[in-house]
Amino acid sequence: MMDLIPAPRRSTPDDRGPGRLDAQTRLEAGPGTEGVARWLRATIGAATGFPLAGHGDGEGRIRLSVDPGLPPEGYRLNLGGPEQLVEGGSAAGVFWGAQTLRQLLGADAFRRAPLRPGRHWDLPAVTVEDAPRFRWRGLMLDVARHFMPKEGVLRYLDLMAAHKLNVFHFHLTDDQGWRVEIRRHPRLTGTGSWRPRSKSGHRASPLWDEKPHGGFYTQDDIREIVAYAAERHITVVPEIDVPGHSQAAIAAYPELGNTDVRPASGAGGGPPAVWDTWGISPHVLAPAESTLRFYEGVFEEVLELFPSEFVHVGGDECLKDEWRASPAAQARLRELGLADEDELQSWFVGHFDRWLSARGRRLIGWDEILEGGLAPGATVSSWRGYAGGIAAARAGHDVVMCPEQQVYLDHRQHDGPDEPVPIGYVRTLEDVYRFEPVPAELTPEEARHVLGTQANLWTEAMEDQARVDYQAFPRLAAFAEVAWSALPAPAERDFAGFERRMEAHYRRLDALGVGYRPPSGPRPWQRRPGVLGRPIDGPPPDR
Ligand code: ACM
Repeated sequence: MMDLIPAPRRSTPDDRGPGRLDAQTRLEAGPGTEGVARWLRATIGAATGFPLAGHGDGEGRIRLSVDPGLPPEGYRLNLGGPEQLVEGGSAAGVFWGAQTLRQLLGADAFRRAPLRPGRHWDLPAVTVEDAPRFRWRGLMLDVARHFMPKEGVLRYLDLMAAHKLNVFHFHLTDDQGWRVEIRRHPRLTGTGSWRPRSKSGHRASPLWDEKPHGGFYTQDDIREIVAYAAERHITVVPEIDVPGHSQAAIAAYPELGNTDVRPASGAGGGPPAVWDTWGISPHVLAPAESTLRFYEGVFEEVLELFPSEFVHVGGDECLKDEWRASPAAQARLRELGLADEDELQSWFVGHFDRWLSARGRRLIGWDEILEGGLAPGATVSSWRGYAGGIAAARAGHDVVMCPEQQVYLDHRQHDGPDEPVPIGYVRTLEDVYRFEPVPAELTPEEARHVLGTQANLWTEAMEDQARVDYQAFPRLAAFAEVAWSALPAPAERDFAGFERRMEAHYRRLDALGVGYRPPSGPRPWQRRPGVLGRPIDGPPPDR
């Protein structure tokens, strides 16, 4: 009857008779729930055409209230009869309850305007009690490889909220583009946010898209994104990727690079340009004090913009060839008394661990930050499988599980010949549904370090929103259930039941205008014949 996604802990039908919304329905917001009321008016109000006013004579009402006795993000719905009660352990809990309320109104509640004006809408008489399994239910979006304009980001925050996801990991910098305005270093976006052309599809493809690509968020844009997310109880965790994946920054400020090796390693000998193809660039930051000072300046502005406890410093895929070849880097290594280049990377990350801790924040980085020694306060995003996360949890560090084998949504979701730009592993909807974030090897004590899980959307092969939608959905719905619901062990999960509930969810996604992959395969305009002759199998995921 209810077809909720993600599935709630408990739902119990009641005999109160259906709940009813109409033009007279009042919306009463208890202390702390005013933001949820605003969201309900903007969504359900728009879809129904009802004002959902705070006062009125009608008998029917929606009542929002905080009950500190409930878990912080938990909620209880009592629907049916004249009063629709949404209680949460905090405003966030009330908000997640409001999301469930919208699903219970039916797919048309996801439209922006009434499809056909009606006199009333019904809600089932039901009690729902619910709370999330994990506190970190994340989605990472790479806006460096392909820029997503601000409106698209806001739309993704809405899509996250509809799936009860609460951490938006914003991958803002990479070899192919720098996407956040930094006032004291204007060339980061002035030069670093544009490239003249892009490799089309996979990096082994012979095809190029010969038009310039770029864009960036002003600091006002970022403030708007962060505020929009906060209103939806989503935390934005910014990522500034160091010391690898930094070619766009080096293109803007060549002195950030290993200038004493570039003539030997760079094509033509000059500083590198913003990168136009995919893979791992050899051009990485110089391990110099001046580089640290430059990035402290960057992070100072980042901290002003993003109030999140966690700040992501990347740390992945830093090739060490330049450091090996650079006399300056080698001198630095000796001066610091370090054994090798891995320790040099660890020194780099450790610096920002201390720097962020001193400012009341926490460093998070990709699992390569384990190499050469993990900084004392660091949290790990475990992407190369579970191993990094297991090692970090055993060493007492917090972990976010996002293994590429399961939850890299840029990987193709079917092995059929029509799959567009089919990179990486085949990871079906069912594979994602059966993903387990907590590895069985961890003791209960160690498992407490798994803060949660995250799906990652790398956008080398997603040049626009339609491609992002296609890769993200429907798998993000399965992921949301993994992150939120108390599912049994992977083999015991009721995937057939999930697929049945997805029938209703596809109608919601249709109403939201999401260009998901239909169960029967890509629609004609979603196919990409000819971009890539054949699928490339992982590992490694060949982006
Ligand atoms: C990553 O996929 N390089 C974190």
